[in-house]
Amino acid sequence: MLEVARIVGGRALRGTVQAAGAKNAALPLLAASLLTSEEVTLRNVPDLSDVRFMAEILRHQGASVANPKPGTWVIRAESIVHRTPYDLVRKMRASVCLLGALVGRLHQAEMAIPGGCVIGPRPIDLHLKGLEALGCAVSVEGGVVSVDARRARGGSVFMGGPMGSTVLGTANLVMAATLTPGETRIECAAREPEVVDLCALLLRMGADIRGHGTETITVRGVASLRGADHAVIPDRIEAGTYLVAGAITGGDVTVAGAEADHLGAFLDKLREAGVGVETGPGFVRAYGRPSRAVDLVTEPYPGFPTDLQAQFLALQLFVDGKSHITEKVYPARFMHAAELQRMGADIAMDGATAVVVGGKPLSGAPVMASDLRASAALILAALAAKGETWVQRLYHLDRGYERFEERLRALGAEIERLPASAMPKGFAED
Ligand code: EPZ
Repeated sequence: MLEVARIVGGRALRGTVQAAGAKNAALPLLAASLLTSEEVTLRNVPDLSDVRFMAEILRHQGASVANPKPGTWVIRAESIVHRTPYDLVRKMRASVCLLGALVGRLHQAEMAIPGGCVIGPRPIDLHLKGLEALGCAVSVEGGVVSVDARRARGGSVFMGGPMGSTVLGTANLVMAATLTPGETRIECAAREPEVVDLCALLLRMGADIRGHGTETITVRGVASLRGADHAVIPDRIEAGTYLVAGAITGGDVTVAGAEADHLGAFLDKLREAGVGVETGPGFVRAYGRPSRAVDLVTEPYPGFPTDLQAQFLALQLFVDGKSHITEKVYPARFMHAAELQRMGADIAMDGATAVVVGGKPLSGAPVMASDLRASAALILAALAAKGETWVQRLYHLDRGYERFEERLRALGAEIERLPASAMPKGFAED
């Protein structure tokens, strides 16, 4: 059933929200459980549609997957198949991170190549370059990539592309290399906390990995990996989204369980914009509206995360002045701009830069979510806009935010989730 969010803006959000586990760590961690025939237990896994979908794919591969209690998943991949069909991969680009696990465990894999999505093309050329550097035979036929790793012996590879490092490309290569004989050296490796978390699980499983978290990762292949028990790191993107909710409404929000060290560039930008920021062991707090328009460029970690770009752009709408927001990771990731313009936002696109003139009054309107982070940005803008906003296609939001409207309501927001039929006549998409 299609659902919408109805938001009435104007209330300052105050209070504390508990950070959930990181979606972008949980997905590769689930894939990594295929690297062993022993039991892998993952804790603090967020309750998201993407996680449930990844669990379905693991079952399709032949693993037994249990969810004995909220947040805990137990996977046992005793015997698995090496093929992953298109109708699964096309529903979630991130399922590409199964490739490295299948190559590592079975020394062969066949997977449909994920297409693009609304934030732009999602190529995997760097993933395949990395696997070839291991000594794999890689071929692409009819939209399916086949990898034969029976003669793979490790190798060195530079994994940087036109936009810099690749998160899931690094994850795939590390996973494949853990069970590939010889040494593999990955230059221009992704340094995201989610990649570091994956390496933490692999080390617990008996992998030999050095340099994770830096731009050069070295993996020495081992004969097999054992089971492990691992808790997922907190979600820095979700935490950043709640901090913006506090700042955009001129409130005061603390995210308990958030890791300030994972949010360096983002917190630095909040401070530069004049938002109050306080951090401590196990919490991050943002309070007070922004007072300065600031420019922003998204980059691979430790730069400003592209996954918080839409949320920060929404914040800039409520401060006088002009800001330039440039995407150097996904140049087309501005689907939220057109919807925000419906609310009165003054945003002009100049290539991969959004020129935002903030300080103009925003008023509620019916808008359409297009992707995960854009839908969060629309809700954030609606919290501070005048009047009533209806956000359609909430399924985008549910991919990456657990009970988002419930937790915003607990902070004082006037927001509710309704069936799409509740929308006023003429608002609903036909
Ligand atoms: C991960 O996607 C995240 N997803 C994305 O989060 C995030 O936006 C992205 O990293 C960047 O931080 C998960 O972790 C599940 P990339 P990933 O490979 O790994 C280009 C969200 O909202 N590229 O680091 O697929 C690519 O086109 C999602 O939670 C190549 O050119 O992203 C992009 O411009 C959205 N060739 C850039 O690199 C390749 O082979 C970064 O992509 C691979 C990528």
